[in-house]
Amino acid sequence: MTAESDENATMPRETLASIAQRHGTDKVRYCNTYERYLGPLRDQPVRLFEIGVGGYSDPAAGGASVRTWKEYFPQGVVYALDYYDKSAHEEERIRIFRGSQTDPDVLHRIRAEMERMDIVLDDGSHRSPDVIASFEILFPLLAPGGLYIVEDLGTSYWTSYGGSEDLLEPSTSVSYFKRLVDGLQSASFRHSYVPSYADLNAAFVHFYPNLVIIRKK
Ligand SMILES: C[S@@+](CC[C@H](N)C(=O)[O-])C[C@H]1O[C@@H](n2cnc3c(N)ncnc32)[C@H](O)[C@@H]1O
Repeated sequence: MTAESDENATMPRETLASIAQRHGTDKVRYCNTYERYLGPLRDQPVRLFEIGVGGYSDPAAGGASVRTWKEYFPQGVVYALDYYDKSAHEEERIRIFRGSQTDPDVLHRIRAEMERMDIVLDDGSHRSPDVIASFEILFPLLAPGGLYIVEDLGTSYWTSYGGSEDLLEPSTSVSYFKRLVDGLQSASFRHSYVPSYADLNAAFVHFYPNLVIIRKK
């Protein structure tokens, strides 16, 4: 080992929050939580899929989070989808697709190219129907032990995002993920119940402010 590599080995690594801040993504607020789940995977050849490149209709804008992931996972490959053309952000270890997060054909095509989907991060439209549709398509495609993360869950309470101020409204994204908490217990049910794929395959459902993280068994 050279003196320089010896020194690098003892230097603390840059945190996800610091990398995210440098690239200018508003994900910074989630990064301390993410570090706890993603830190153990940092040097693995992870394949991460993010919905939402950022910058909306401006083809040159956005890309902050895909660059953050590429740097955080030095052995990883980042795949991302946006409704708008974001191909300008493609580079080595970053693949960008165009399409809707509710289109099963696009999502299956991305999964086929990825070969293995270890992490899904939904930072797309944040509309409840879209969040639920993406989860229903993608959770079965996630690798065993994989993580499914949904950001900005607070939009579940906003009618302009297909959510509701009624906390018992079943069609919102938070209501949907809350039902998975019941699904986790479904083996103990004494009443008749047909468990969903997610009920049978979720290992945990962790809620945080504005965030839910689900691990697949
Ligand atoms: C909040 S931004 C993503 C920010 C980025 N992930 C970051 O952290 O820097 C949301 C992006 O999702 C895209 N989007 C919105 N609706 C979508 C949909 N239905 N399917 C795919 N992408 C969508 C928007 O065009 C926008 O660029």
